[in-house]
Amino acid sequence: MNILETRNLEHEFNGYSVLKKVNLEIRKGETHAIIGPNGAGKTTLFNVISGMYTPSKGKVIFKKKDITGFKAYKIQRLGMGRSFQITATFDNLTAFQNIRMAVLSRKGIRFNLFRFVDKMNDVTTETINVLQNLDLWEACHTPAGMLSYGKQRSLEIGMALATDPDLVMLDEPAAGMSADETHTAVSLIKKLTKEKTVVIIEHDMDVVFSLADRITVLNHGTILATGIPKEIKANKDVQAAYLGRLEDE
Ligand SMILES: Nc1ncnc2c1ncn2[C@@H]1O[C@H](COP(=O)(O)OP(=O)(O)OP(=O)(O)O)[C@@H](O)[C@H]1O
Ligand SMILES: [Mg+2]
Repeated sequence: MNILETRNLEHEFNGYSVLKKVNLEIRKGETHAIIGPNGAGKTTLFNVISGMYTPSKGKVIFKKKDITGFKAYKIQRLGMGRSFQITATFDNLTAFQNIRMAVLSRKGIRFNLFRFVDKMNDVTTETINVLQNLDLWEACHTPAGMLSYGKQRSLEIGMALATDPDLVMLDEPAAGMSADETHTAVSLIKKLTKEKTVVIIEHDMDVVFSLADRITVLNHGTILATGIPKEIKANKDVQAAYLGRLEDE
């Protein structure tokens, strides 16, 4: 069963077509990587699916519901969480406050002086759980901007997962990481997404091949191929467009 589908999805910026008739199918429970050269439209695809942009044409179907044009917060409450290519945590807030904000936003609770949100046990418990799972508990009172780069990226993943989504979309979670940090990030993602469907944009092919059940290759805003890693590696069009170097591996 597909948890997410895009149907002939199109998007343009100032008359320039960035996504062209994209038909993506994400099966419930799989980890699905989206790869492709810089500027292929990967992040734009995430932005259109998650409600940051309304597509120029086509549909987004999530859990059998047409969510095309829905606002991002509404889509999030339907069970879709996402992380950003550029870390989007709040630097001046602590790790705890960042995660708590994500938990609160899923529950649709706004900050309100007349409510003692700190006393809301379930929000606090969930926040603590997420921080412990991220191995960020010790740093919970550290402002996000003071964390190491690797930990900031972990926090970014945690923000997406704090909404306890059924579908989690990660945009280059390992970008700019050292080999050690990447290794930690991959283990973290595996541990935290066992029960979930994951769509991950990633340039690091080691990360892609260690996580993905299936891979979609996007090139110039069009899907070039979808398949299991073995099929993608063997696909001549993919090799020509993007993965030529994989022939040597
Ligand atoms: N907000 C925007 N306004 C105008 N053009 C944009 C905007 N966002 C992206 N683009 C353009 O759309 C195209 C696709 O960009 P996108 O960021 O989706 O690519 P990407 O596949 O995520 O690339 P990367 O691997 O570098 O992150 C690029 O040509 C980019 O310059
Ligand atoms: Mg991108």
